[in-house]
Amino acid sequence: MSEKKSVMDYETVALDEKKGALVIIDQTKLPYKMELLELTRQEDIWNAIYLLKVRGAPAIGVAAAMGIYLAAREIQADTWEEFYPQFTKAKEYLDSARPTAVNLSWALNRMDDVCRANKDKPLHELKGILYDAAMEIRNEDVWVCKSIGEYGLSLVKPGDGLLTHCNAGKLATVKYGTATAPMYLGQERGYNFRIYADETRPLLQGARLTAFELYESGLDVTLICDNMSATVMKNKWVDAVFVGCDRVAANGDTANKIGTSVVATVASRYHVPVYICAPTSTIDLNTPTGDDIKIEQRSPEEITTMWYKERMAPEGVKVFNPCFDVTDNDLIAGIVTEYGIARAPYTESLKEIFAKKEAARNAAF
Ligand code: MRU
Repeated sequence: MSEKKSVMDYETVALDEKKGALVIIDQTKLPYKMELLELTRQEDIWNAIYLLKVRGAPAIGVAAAMGIYLAAREIQADTWEEFYPQFTKAKEYLDSARPTAVNLSWALNRMDDVCRANKDKPLHELKGILYDAAMEIRNEDVWVCKSIGEYGLSLVKPGDGLLTHCNAGKLATVKYGTATAPMYLGQERGYNFRIYADETRPLLQGARLTAFELYESGLDVTLICDNMSATVMKNKWVDAVFVGCDRVAANGDTANKIGTSVVATVASRYHVPVYICAPTSTIDLNTPTGDDIKIEQRSPEEITTMWYKERMAPEGVKVFNPCFDVTDNDLIAGIVTEYGIARAPYTESLKEIFAKKEAARNAAF
């Protein structure tokens, strides 16, 4: 008899080269239904990103890289001059799906760089190079998260209580997650963390996804409502907060799921360190401060009707529904990247992280 597969056995984002499809877990159906979607049309890939069927900054980046490869594969052209405008159009289209997570444009720009660097190659060869580039972005994500996990783990000790907000887990990446990477690595090494997962209104990524994947993986996770973080911190049940991010500005201000800055403010009151787990692909040195980060606004129905049997707010009431907020850099104890932990002042330390990345790249060639 075959054993039932868990969500952890599936890839969050994958490419089916034979079918020409992006294969994703439909995260809007979790945790009650595990459904894989095979997306071949650009409109469907755009919608999957917009509707959060695939979500979380790194997973969005990987989906976009695979998506633009699939678009390139379909382009009928005999010359680069015919090919490239169509490639650019597809790139701009995918880039418009969500504005805050910088991984979307980061991955598309990287694919564009590869495309332009190989413009003299025959088009069939160029398409193969784009396939390799998309897979490289995917594979990189695995070691990036693992490395973030190792650095994150160095900040805590066995038995600690950790709080997280939203889902920066396996479901938001290829494997391990970012904020959950220290938790999964700690589990492998017997750390016995006690984890608190904020439910994360309005789309419940904490309840539906984080609590789900940690629980399925056998970690000690307790689900709390977003307004309970002060209680668990005042009780001294939380030793550190680990969260992900959608864009880190050059000064360390960090956009992440709405409510993160509330958690960080509360944590500061109770002297709990807040660590942002950030792949360098989510750090945007071209955005000077948090004020320069564009915050995605979403539909009022996410607050008024979604998840409820009946509408839970008066018809016609004004609704404000920003998808992300910005945590000020002075509330952040450290930014954990795959190349080490950046500490304040971030304007300096983040540049040093990128210098390390550059040095590692040069050493590899
Ligand atoms: O709107 P979402 O679900 O895509 O928001 C996701 C988050 O805010 C995550 O914390 C962030 O993308 C980091 S994922 C490793």
